[in-house]
Amino acid sequence: MSDLELLDCGGGRRLERFGAVTVDRPAAQAGEPRRLPDSDWARPTLRWGRGGWVRGAAADPWPVRVGGLTLECRPAAGGQVGVFPEHALTWGWLDAAVRSSAATLGREPEVLSLFGYTGGASLACARAGARVAHVDASRPAVAWARRNAELSGLSGAPVRWLADDARAFARRERRRGRRYDGVVLDPPTYGHGSGAWRIEDGLPDLLDEIAALCGPRPSFVLLSAHTPGFDGERLAALLRDHLGIPADGAPLRLDASSGGRLELGAWAAGGVHAPPLPGVGPARSRRRSAPGSRPRAPVGSRPSPPPGRRTAARR
Ligand SMILES: C[S@@+](CC[C@H](N)C(=O)[O-])C[C@H]1O[C@@H](n2cnc3c(N)ncnc32)[C@H](O)[C@@H]1O
Repeated sequence: MSDLELLDCGGGRRLERFGAVTVDRPAAQAGEPRRLPDSDWARPTLRWGRGGWVRGAAADPWPVRVGGLTLECRPAAGGQVGVFPEHALTWGWLDAAVRSSAATLGREPEVLSLFGYTGGASLACARAGARVAHVDASRPAVAWARRNAELSGLSGAPVRWLADDARAFARRERRRGRRYDGVVLDPPTYGHGSGAWRIEDGLPDLLDEIAALCGPRPSFVLLSAHTPGFDGERLAALLRDHLGIPADGAPLRLDASSGGRLELGAWAAGGVHAPPLPGVGPARSRRRSAPGSRPRAPVGSRPSPPPGRRTAARR
């Protein structure tokens, strides 16, 4: 039995199991009625309500096993527990992408992991044999990710743990002439690093930096988001337009064991060693950029176009 399970959702909330711990917290997307009886929702280990943990706030951290990793969970700010269960699917995809990339390149792929949070994506890449630069603006998040590396038996893996602003780091790496084979990024809607982050404003320029870091044939790029309006097709179009690679997108969703379903954002991916997205056939994965859009040259290879000439993805 998996350590991560969506037990039920509905009425604006979700009931999940992380190992032996049940968690009841808000989910704006859960508009349907609940399927499980009230008695099943009555006594979760943790409950988030009215801006704080109203049940189990003092719970000790506990480990969960997912995809060969061991990750620490704890009641954290904003109703988070340290793992986004809907991302577990993308970690399996990253494992395959890194292994395919390593086999073709004949060396350990270099992977840049931006907005790395508690390290699930970075550790999935490290476990598959990548050398990883893990970047997050929050020092506590980076410390949490390092604990997860230890718990997962990966403390000796070649991971650089960097408390830094994603855009500033990517820009500095480009100026230093660094190259990456693969990139994974999970930008929040709003955030803070060396300045305020807004996905609407920041993502296009960040993708241009990533294009410069990867060159014209990145092994793989995986972009996910939980921001309303950023569905899989929009994320895929951003990858196509800013990196010049074929890319596909799909929703990030969880199926509840009760029969319910929760949509929790989207992801898109592409690159020369990118496996097809689960549920998306290889024919779609080979698709080129949308008609009318042009691949963009990497940052630094030519002057940036004036803002008015930005790609359709920006509009
Ligand atoms: C995992 S991502 C967002 C997850 C999910 N997509 C969402 O929207 O809730 C959140 C992480 O990004 C980090 N972060 C926010 N702004 C950042 C920035 N400017 N540079 C680097 N990391 C940042 C936060 O510290 C946090 O760990």
